[in-house]
Amino acid sequence: MRPLIDMRSIQKSFGTNIVLNGVDFEVLPGEVHALMGENGAGKSTLIKVLTGIYDRDGGTIVVNGRDVHYRHPKEAERDGIVVIHQELNIIPTLTVAENIFLGREPKIGRTGVIRYKEMEQQAAAHLRRLGMDLNPRELAGRLSVGKQQMIEIARAISTNAKCLIMDEPTAALTEREIQALFSVIQTLKEQGIAIVYISHRMEEIFTICDRISVLRDGQFIGTKRVKETNVDEIVQMMVGRQIGERFPKRRVTIGEERLRVERLTKIGVFENVSFSVRAGEVLGVAGLMGSGRTEIMEAIFGARPFDEGDIYIDGRPVRIRSPRQAVEHGIAMITEDRKQKGLVLEMSVHENLTLPKLEQLATAGFIQSSKERDVVLSFIHLLNIKTSSPDLAVKALSGGNQQKVVFGKWLAMNPRILILDEPTRGVDVGAKKEIYEIINELAAQGVAIVMVSSELPEVLGMSDRVMVIHEGNVQAVLENDGLDQETIMRAATGGNR
Ligand SMILES: Nc1ncnc2c1ncn2[C@@H]1O[C@H](COP(=O)(O)OP(=O)(O)OP(=O)(O)O)[C@@H](O)[C@H]1O
Ligand SMILES: [Mg+2]
Repeated sequence: MRPLIDMRSIQKSFGTNIVLNGVDFEVLPGEVHALMGENGAGKSTLIKVLTGIYDRDGGTIVVNGRDVHYRHPKEAERDGIVVIHQELNIIPTLTVAENIFLGREPKIGRTGVIRYKEMEQQAAAHLRRLGMDLNPRELAGRLSVGKQQMIEIARAISTNAKCLIMDEPTAALTEREIQALFSVIQTLKEQGIAIVYISHRMEEIFTICDRISVLRDGQFIGTKRVKETNVDEIVQMMVGRQIGERFPKRRVTIGEERLRVERLTKIGVFENVSFSVRAGEVLGVAGLMGSGRTEIMEAIFGARPFDEGDIYIDGRPVRIRSPRQAVEHGIAMITEDRKQKGLVLEMSVHENLTLPKLEQLATAGFIQSSKERDVVLSFIHLLNIKTSSPDLAVKALSGGNQQKVVFGKWLAMNPRILILDEPTRGVDVGAKKEIYEIINELAAQGVAIVMVSSELPEVLGMSDRVMVIHEGNVQAVLENDGLDQETIMRAATGGNR
């Protein structure tokens, strides 16, 4: 079969940093092709080179048997290649139909007047064809991230896409939305549309993909058929070594209660939330997206107000009204949304790592700059952050490496209570394990850890106890002893109160 896309010997550098070094990548019509590799391996860059966001330094790209050199993603779209980026391009104040046909609305003659009825009918037809349960008249901003992503897929299909490229499409989706996405992918495949799927989640890749191509440090390692390979082999290809157990074992004696929350309530958001965490303990927090997990954690961290309830640290009641006060009480919070809350993208790795620390040092009345450099270098080393220099702007780092900087930034303040919200989102297998080891090490030092996560294997692999949130209420607190995913999911969807 003639490949739809055939990239050969692709070469790309940023300054002296060689990011793609002779990469081959081929996509066949109607296949689901995973692109895998550790953080910073060059996956997103390869896609950007394909679609003309970046200019390549060398190599050839053949699409449909024709040599191409796109200068802009619009040119790639004309050939049927559409990318769905992790940051969705949805306009919240427009309807589903308006978003699907944005810039291509059917108009009455040349008047510029939009034929709403026709547009909504066409949108409905596309949605039906994809098996999507969406109302064309609904405002996009009212929909969940999963549904907004469906709009983007529908938009791509309505332009007659032949190849849909999804860069970490499930990172922000709930379990149910992921299932819906998989069935849409199946439908697309049956219609002969090729899909390039970038994800760090092994389970997903092995469920929906036909072939897997692996990059490591900008080199092309190989392409395997899913039927003829296994997780261990792919991990080995990605990291160039065996990594052993995914969830490192931990032996920690659990100590005194560090944090206790009683009857925390924000009317309409969460209600009567009570729990406690002890020194050395990891409390996993599970629940569907939108169940209020993040809001509860933000309230404890002083980042959003609450109506009622009490917070105790080391048995003493505390008043926390701002993140600054939370930090003064030894609480650190690593958020799921690193772009908005965790990092200053324009600033360097060094500056980001020292943000909270700087305040500490400044209140102490002095800044020791040579010491500070040592601290920064030790964190870059400890977390294995791939950056050509501590002075590189954080925005030039790959997604997973940005997340490691967020980690480093908060670890630098030596927290006693650590709240993690989706700590390994978008982080590769090797780096995930590094983060798990850091979590274990902190627990061993007596830090009390609260970890919100949508990845159930991670919740089960890392927690001592699991608190399940359903619609703003604590549905269950379960000992992690013979606990399984089904039990957590049942509670998360409102079962066994
Ligand atoms: N605009 C840029 N300027 C400088 N360096 C860049 C730029 N874009 C990417 N890089 C570098 O290229 C390398 C590959 O990054 P890329 O984003 O392609 O990785 P990735 O495989 O998509 O990783 P992740 O899984 O973390 O998303 C990284 O080391 C990154 O720092
Ligand atoms: Mg990427």
